[in-house]
Amino acid sequence: MSAPVVLGIESTCDETAAAVVCGHSLISNVVASSMNEHARYGGVIPEIASRAHAEAFVPVVSQALADANMDIADVDAIAVSAGPGLAGCLAVGVSGAKSLALAANKPIYGINHVIGHIAVTQLQFGAFPQDTLALIVSGGHTSLLHVQDVARKIDVVGTTLDDAAGECFDKIARILGFPYPGGPHIDKHAQAGDPHAIRVPQGLTQGKAGAQHPYDFSFSGVKTAVARWVEGLQAQGQPVPVDDVCASLADSVASVLTNKAMAACDLYGSSTLIVGGGFTANSQLRDKLVATGKERGIEVRIPQRQLCTDNGAMVAMLGSNLVEAGVRPSALDFPINSAMPLSQICM
Ligand code: KG4
Ligand code: ZN
Repeated sequence: MSAPVVLGIESTCDETAAAVVCGHSLISNVVASSMNEHARYGGVIPEIASRAHAEAFVPVVSQALADANMDIADVDAIAVSAGPGLAGCLAVGVSGAKSLALAANKPIYGINHVIGHIAVTQLQFGAFPQDTLALIVSGGHTSLLHVQDVARKIDVVGTTLDDAAGECFDKIARILGFPYPGGPHIDKHAQAGDPHAIRVPQGLTQGKAGAQHPYDFSFSGVKTAVARWVEGLQAQGQPVPVDDVCASLADSVASVLTNKAMAACDLYGSSTLIVGGGFTANSQLRDKLVATGKERGIEVRIPQRQLCTDNGAMVAMLGSNLVEAGVRPSALDFPINSAMPLSQICM
């Protein structure tokens, strides 16, 4: 069989996106974002995001096909994010994708968005090694996965016990007065600050809790400590050293993520670390992962920034893996699952 052509559709949060992938090659990639409509509320408003998906769905999918010089008859399968994500947003993308599949008589795969974030690395680095470790860091997830086969078998090695890293950054960014999403602002300010200016706690790294949870994460303590420290200064009318706060926070979070991911690679004897999720656009994390990987002889595969945040290419790429592996398509009545577990690759 020649390489499958897959149309990927994404609508889990505030990006409506579509892309065409052929095998491991990206043919087209279109993203429309409603991010600016949410900024003044300090976070994504599901109703606004859902409405934006309904408006953008047809133009975005049409553009992705047009950019690929194709129409729907040319694709072998459709893949769509079925979860996890905001229910109303998922419903728009999944309903649209099902209609398209039904009308064009194409197989459809309701895929796990989070697994898409790691699958996308194949567009840049090629197929996964047989047994590999993956670090997922997004707005809603911070997890370590053991990927035996991206189309068939993924196990959770560790996960956050409370907040995700992205969530923690977004909340601190709000206290510092940055608009949503705050992650990129913290990244920028961190580049001008001193990473050792403030002590930021590193959850589950030491003592009994660290020993009990070597591959799990906890970021709620980080959020509370930084918020208290900043609010203390604000209460005294003192200026907040924003760059130093951002640099210390980013350095601390990047260290925890890197150290735990490398330890999990050792545990599974993996010489490759696959990295994905919106937060992995973060400069401090990218630098630390690459430097530590070099020291320890572990190849770190981080997608280019454009493919870190939500997109259709990640969905199409995972769809292509499923087609190539001969996995049965989803039934046309598959539901959305806003809390889809990470071990479930497709519906
Ligand atoms: O994967 P994603 O686009 O959405 C989810 O599936 O959750 O991730 C969004 C998260 C947000 O928390 C955002 O602040 C964070 O990724 N993010 C960053 C950066 N770019 C995006 N965090 C830190 N530094 C960045 N450069
Ligand atoms: Zn995402």
